[in-house]
Amino acid sequence: MLTLAKAGKDDVFCDFGSGFAQNVILALNEFGVKKAIGIESDDTRLWRSRMRLEELGLHKKGRIIFGPFEDLEDAVLSKVTILFYGLSGWDELVSRLQRVWKDTKTHRRLIWNDWHPIPEAFPDEVDYPFFLTYFPQTRKKYPERDWLMRVVLQPETMIKDSTKRTQKELWEEFSHNMDVLQFRDDLMEYRRRLRKVAHP
Ligand SMILES: C[S@@+](CC[C@H](N)C(=O)[O-])C[C@H]1O[C@@H](n2cnc3c(N)ncnc32)[C@H](O)[C@@H]1O
Repeated sequence: MLTLAKAGKDDVFCDFGSGFAQNVILALNEFGVKKAIGIESDDTRLWRSRMRLEELGLHKKGRIIFGPFEDLEDAVLSKVTILFYGLSGWDELVSRLQRVWKDTKTHRRLIWNDWHPIPEAFPDEVDYPFFLTYFPQTRKKYPERDWLMRVVLQPETMIKDSTKRTQKELWEEFSHNMDVLQFRDDLMEYRRRLRKVAHP
């Protein structure tokens, strides 16, 4: 995920829902980002994360903020250059980033994964199971087929011929993928969200 983002010394990494700070630690130790921030709403995980950063001597560059990521201050989010979002729901994520990440000179990346695809984000780069969307976005409106082609056609896809896929087949494949991940119930919601940003 951090390789896909080409994380490096000029980056500020942030993980929404940072668990035990594993991504925060990796970003600092293996990719040398200048700062890494985790947002965690579970106080036991928060406490363990802060302990781990302290033990590893990463507490100056690594910081875990307690609370729901939805409440993160714009002032903090505006400093972030790589955001990992691996949680479900929150269809306001992209509009929030459009609002807060409006400085067009900074090269920012949102990373998401196949567990919880983001219809409002066009996957500019793919290293399955991770997807990367640049901000400023390269595409804000796109045919739903283009998004599906990138998100659905994973290495183990059942559909082999890239030229012959119909939109219906892509939706079927997407529903199969979601079935495998046991998230099939979310499919209608993905369709609704994708149709909001898609043009025919
Ligand atoms: C599956 S873990 C992922 C940890 C880490 N991001 C990773 O990829 O390994 C998800 C974490 O998100 C936290 N979480 C869930 N909803 C959250 C919210 N709204 N705000 C902050 N943290 C949240 C959970 O407590 C949990 O620790």
